[in-house]
Amino acid sequence: MANMETAEFETDLSLFKYDNLEQLPPRYRDLEENERTERIEAALAELGDDVVILGHNYQRREIVEHADFIGDSYQLSKQAAEADAEYVIFGGVTFMAESADIITDDDQSVILPSMEASCPMAGMAEALQVDSAWAEITAAASDDDIIPITYMNSYADLKAFCASQGGLVCTSSNAHKAFEYAFDKGDKVLFLPDKHLGENTAHRLGMEDEIAQWDPWNPEGKDAAEVADRDIILWDGYCQVHERFRVEHIEQVREDNPGAKVIVHPECRREVVEAADKAGSTATICETIAEADPGDTWAIGTEVHLTNHLQRWHPEVDVVPLCGDACMDCNAMRQIDPNYLTWVLEELAAGREHNVIEVAPEEKELAGVALDRMLEI
Ligand code: 13P
Ligand code: SF4
Repeated sequence: MANMETAEFETDLSLFKYDNLEQLPPRYRDLEENERTERIEAALAELGDDVVILGHNYQRREIVEHADFIGDSYQLSKQAAEADAEYVIFGGVTFMAESADIITDDDQSVILPSMEASCPMAGMAEALQVDSAWAEITAAASDDDIIPITYMNSYADLKAFCASQGGLVCTSSNAHKAFEYAFDKGDKVLFLPDKHLGENTAHRLGMEDEIAQWDPWNPEGKDAAEVADRDIILWDGYCQVHERFRVEHIEQVREDNPGAKVIVHPECRREVVEAADKAGSTATICETIAEADPGDTWAIGTEVHLTNHLQRWHPEVDVVPLCGDACMDCNAMRQIDPNYLTWVLEELAAGREHNVIEVAPEEKELAGVALDRMLEI
């Protein structure tokens, strides 16, 4: 029988969870690139080992070129765990910086240069809303143990909720392992918030007939009989950057570039992943292009900054965006502006901290359990 208790967490329905959000001072708004680069380098030289910069693959060129480590969500959380710098500057979005704060020691500070960098998909599964859905779902499947798994793209309070119910966190590179962990412990999985990653993982495990969907915004999208009957319940969230890709884009890119191969992120729709040659996390996409033969053509179905980086990093490979000019950048990732980076670094060099992400203590411990479970699978 599932643990029916619902945890009580302080939670905030706003995307901007942190009330210490500070905007960029006007004197930093119009910096010219050369001057800005010099100032960033000067501040970094002064700060030395006190600072490490982590940059997600979707960050702008002007951020990743200053990063000590560039990677996918999983790699960056491992780097955060290993970092011993006093300040971890996170080039990414709020949920990634929260995870870094949870994983790092108490005497380290995690700084998200612009605290408006909030992933819309993470906002599609608020802990309060999941808490009440949990009561409905566990009642619908009262004979089964349900293990909740949340994608890394979620806030700390939801990660804490999952840990409190025996669940864990996963990223796009280890979702299948998280499902296996959960099925070892229980009968069913509730996966949040990305239905596409959930569906693609169910297919990878040969469990595609076990999928039920849970749409918290639509009374008709919550079918108790289906939940009782199936083993994988998918929350109805998605990433708008990845939902945009269609099978027709793959057909078109193959027609325009004979011999081209296609790699997409598993946040894409099921039919797109099926039609592609390969699917994987942003790290897998990077490795695939790094290992390609000169002259190969690869079309990339993910956030467009990464496609642009891959074109610069591997000029010997023909790297094309899967849907041409219609490929999107991630508005949340784009909030990390290089002017913000200059500001937070110069202020740190002057002994002042801004835009520090501090997860509430009552969430931190349990969310840490959910992250540790992921790092151990
Ligand atoms: P990765 O885990 O593949 O880096 O992806 C994170 C993300 O936000 C994808 O949209
Ligand atoms: Fe969130 Fe999508 Fe941006 Fe990734 S690309 S951070 S899932 S909005």
